[in-house]
This record gives sequence, structure tokens and C-alpha cells, in this order.
Amino acid sequence: MIPQSFIQELLARVDIVDVIERHLPLKKGGVNYFACCPFHGEKSPSFSVSPSKQFYHCFGCGAHGSAIGFLMEYQGLTYVDAIRELAGQLGMAVPEERDSPAARRQAANVPLTELMAAAARFYREQLKLAPQAIDYLKTRGLTGEIAARFGIGYAPDGWNALQGAFPDYNAAALLEAGLVIENDQGRRYDRFRDRIMFPIQDSRGNVIGFGGRVLGSGEPKYLNSPETPLFEKGRELYGIVQARQGIRDAGCAIVVEGYMDVVALAQFGVSNAVATLGTATTPTHIQKLFRQTDRVVFCFDGDAAGRKAAWRALESSLEALADDKQAAFLFLPPEHDPDSFVRAEGAEAFRQAATSALPLVDFLLRHLREDCDAATAEGRARLVHEAKPLVLKLAAPLLRLQLVKAIAKTSDLTQAEVEAAYGLKPSRPAFDRQGERPSGRPQPRRRPLSPVETLLRLVIQHPTHAARLPLALIPQEDPEGRALVAILDAVDVGDIPGNAGLGLLLEHFRDTPHAPLIAQHGREGLETEFEDSAIEPLLQDTLARLRQTAARREFEALNEKARGTRLSPEEMRRLQELLLAAKEPVSQPKVSN
Ligand code: UTP
Ligand code: MN
Repeated sequence: MIPQSFIQELLARVDIVDVIERHLPLKKGGVNYFACCPFHGEKSPSFSVSPSKQFYHCFGCGAHGSAIGFLMEYQGLTYVDAIRELAGQLGMAVPEERDSPAARRQAANVPLTELMAAAARFYREQLKLAPQAIDYLKTRGLTGEIAARFGIGYAPDGWNALQGAFPDYNAAALLEAGLVIENDQGRRYDRFRDRIMFPIQDSRGNVIGFGGRVLGSGEPKYLNSPETPLFEKGRELYGIVQARQGIRDAGCAIVVEGYMDVVALAQFGVSNAVATLGTATTPTHIQKLFRQTDRVVFCFDGDAAGRKAAWRALESSLEALADDKQAAFLFLPPEHDPDSFVRAEGAEAFRQAATSALPLVDFLLRHLREDCDAATAEGRARLVHEAKPLVLKLAAPLLRLQLVKAIAKTSDLTQAEVEAAYGLKPSRPAFDRQGERPSGRPQPRRRPLSPVETLLRLVIQHPTHAARLPLALIPQEDPEGRALVAILDAVDVGDIPGNAGLGLLLEHFRDTPHAPLIAQHGREGLETEFEDSAIEPLLQDTLARLRQTAARREFEALNEKARGTRLSPEEMRRLQELLLAAKEPVSQPKVSN
């Protein structure tokens, strides 16, 4: 865990304009900076960066966030890595609890990454000296250019070839990095011998492991680095660095099974593919990809093992999905893997196939129908039963609704019956009471703000006002009220400074239920800021409206009570007070946007 105080300090020191300018040319326009949005294709700049709020926002696609959020989205970094990257730029050391496993890992990582980089260099150099390895790559149809792009190398055929790269062949780190193996007698030898070497990089470009393929036939076909402090197979995707731009350009990431698939696709110009590393696709893999794109297409081999892998990928996708994300499944003919397919049919055919891949919900239903005979009542019941854990795993509410409807249709039940069988609350109408889109990018709203929303927006714009708001007046049954109270609390205990910009506020509430509302009001507030002179009357007015609502509720409660029992003299007095107060007019504010 990185302490919040450090993140605050980091965001106070960093300037989002500098951070973004390293990657995009920014033009000043008024108080803000503009560029063409890197997250969607556009010709006129609608991506704006606010130095005062330390926040970026695209009016076109809705992308937004702090300096940390920018690096996560632009470079595909994790939260922690984005913080490290920023801290590194500022020369700040990221504090971690001394003895946490993460801290130990971190301490161990520094020499290991250097070691891995040196090994990758060595293998690349060795490839140039190994005509048989070059020939093998040529027979696989790879050009020198693409081999260089992926840093492909060759591990020479010898027990201790790595001594050429590491004079201290007995260093403990070589063992820890998985580059050498120690036998029972304590003798060391190279793990990879006479193999084509595929370096595996993390999203920052560090080499963290290798996959080594035999030249021709032999067992095992691929030998992989063991899990090390650097390398956790379930988190990493082969080719993620090389695919970053391709994923952005295509608006989609393709997940395949093999090293050679990624490399061959790239050679044919399909540069948005990544591979899992001989493991099942995990939710972490998918989350990583969904941070970079809204669409992921899984393309597994056409054989039975590929189908099984696809189903596991589906199960992992369910919990990572959101309503604005898509997962789809591409099944190649049984005789093909992506490598052979793209060579036989060409890049265009592959792209076409990826575009028309089977949507997740369709794949799920098709699979269940193959398993259960929907022609019989028993089969239909089994289908509903087998779908249950899958439906419950699906985190995206609208997709889940679609799925429930489809299951209901297939099984001859009503939607309500399926929902009841799964213990789900009956779904709300697709459009909620405010006529807003229930998810995805919120539409600009035209209705007046409620008192709580007004205060929320005011406090987001100027957290200094938080101290003046009476907590007791803020109703907490709505998410807006709860978000407001959370901000007031955070300012109160000093977790956020009174002059916090939107960027900092968002980071403080990252991964909390309040984050989407704060982002939404923050963004909308950028377009229609409250004018300084309007704030004071607005605040007074809004508080008056809240007091009036609170009084009305109290009045109604007492009135209700009076019907059942006699009120105490105290309560009677209060009731009269409330009655009198209700007669005084309260002005209606005209603030809206
Ligand atoms: P494949 O057997 O489909 O190999 O394994 P491939 O990628 O198509 O390679 P070529 O075309 O035969 O050269 C798919 C992936 O499974 C893992 C590797 O990550 C491989 O890329 N695998 C496979 C292993 O880890 N070990 C093996 O022995 C085989
Ligand atoms: Mn293959």
C-alpha cells in the first residue's frame, strides 16, 4: 500500500500539463491546454487539460482523470506503476511499508530487471552468430525487422553459455531470475539451451521473463521462465508493449495463445495482438486490457483445447466486464491457429473475422445450449441452473439484464421468474427517473440541480466550502448525499486540502463508490463553473432549501405520530413551530445548467 499522504504530495508537486506534454503536443487556449484526444480518433482538438484543476478531460469521448489516471490510460500502467513512474520523474522515492511482501519484492526487483535486460541483450547478440537459428526463423516466415521489434534472440547450445554475459555465474540473483538451474550437487547450468528466445516484457518494457522454443521438434516445445519476483504469469501478456499503439488505433485488443501468433500477426500488420503465457486468461489480464481499450477479442486455436481456453476466458471476463466494454470470441477453423490463419488467408480476412467475432452473451448461450437440451423441460431447467453462477459473476448491470432476458427466452420462463430463481432484485427500467443514460458516459443534463447536487458540485469546485456545510442537513439516502458527506469528512480530517483540485479529489476517491459521481459532477462543472460572485447567495439559498425539506419531514413525522398517540407538550410545541415556519416563503433559486 502506498500511503495516501504520499499520493497527495506527489499530485501537489507534479504538473499534469508537463506529464501530458511528454506524450502529446499541447496548445494553450485561454487558461487550459488543448490537443487532439489520444484516446479516440479525431481531427479537431477536444482534449483539454486544466492546470488549475490538475485534470484532463476529452469533450469528445469523455476520457478524464488526473496525472495518474492519464498514465494509466495512455501507457496502460497499473495504478501503482503510474505512481512509480510519476515519482520517478520527480525524483521522489515511493514509500512502502518496510516489511510488506511488496516492499521486499520491490527491493529485489531492481537488480533482477537489470539482469533480465542483460540476458535479453546476450540472447539477441547470440542470434546473429547462429545461422541455424536465423534459418529456423526464416522458415517460420519471420523477417529480421519483426524479430528485432520483439527482441527475439537465441540461447546457445551449452551448459554455461550465460557465463558470457554474467562473469559472476554463481550470483544468487541468476537463480532467482530463473536464468540458471541448480542441481542437487549445487552445480549450475543454463535453463535455456539451444532455443529461440522470446523476451516477455511488462507494460513498462522491462524484460521479466522468457519463452524459449526448440528449433524444429523436441520436448518441451516451449520452455518458460519460472515464476519469479518479477514474473507472475497470470498478470502478464506477451507483446503488450509492442501492441499498445495497435490496440489504440484498432480500438480493440486481440488475445491469442502463442508467442508465434503474436509475432506472425504483427508481421502481417495486425499489431494489436497479445498472448497469455501458457496459462488460462485471468480477470487481471482482462482488466489490464480493458484499461487500454473497450473491446477485447479472444482468438484461440480452432481445436478442442482452444475451445476450452475460450470458455475459461469467458468465465474470467464476466467479473471484469462493464457495460461500456465488449468481449467477443473468434473461433478459427480447427486446422488453424492465428499464425497459420493469417499466413493462409491474409490480414484483411483476419481483421474481418475479429470484427464479426461472437459476442460474449451469444457464446455463453450457445455453449449452454450445447450442454443442455432446450427442447425438454429438464434440459431447460438445467440450463437456467448452469447459467446461474455465470449470471451472478457478471458485474455489468445492463449486460446482465440482457443475459437474463436471453436465458428467460431460451428456457421458456419470464424475466421475473429467472430473476427470482437467481435471487436477483427485479431489474430497474433501463432509463432511470432522471431520464439519464444509466451507465456509460453520462449525457449532459439539462434539468436543474437538486440542492444536494448543487452542494456537491460546489464542494468539488471549491473544497474550502466544505467546512461550512452542516452535515446534519444533508440527506444520505441518495448517492449524491453520500458522496458529499464523504468529501466533507475527508476535508474535515485533513485527508484532502481545501485547495484540492479535481485531479487530487478523484485520486482520493479512486475505487470508492463515490468516484463516478465525483468525476461526473467535476466534468460537468468544468463546462459551467459557478461564478465567484454567485457562490455565496447560491450557498445560502441551497441551505435554506435543505432546511425547509428537513423541516417538512420532521413535520410529517410528528403529524403521523399524532394520529396514533398523544404528543408530548414538547412535541406539540415543535409541531407548532414547524407550522409557523412553513408559512414563511423561501425563495426558489434559479440556478440550473
Ligand atoms: P502452441 O502449441 O499452440 O504453440 O502453444 P504456438 O504458439 O502455436 O507455437 P508454434 O507455432 O508451434 O511455434 C501455445 C502457447 O502455449 C505455451 C506457449 O506460451 C505457447 O506459445 N506452451 C506451449 C508452453 O508454454 N509450453 C509448451 O510446451 C507448449
Ligand atoms: Mn502455431
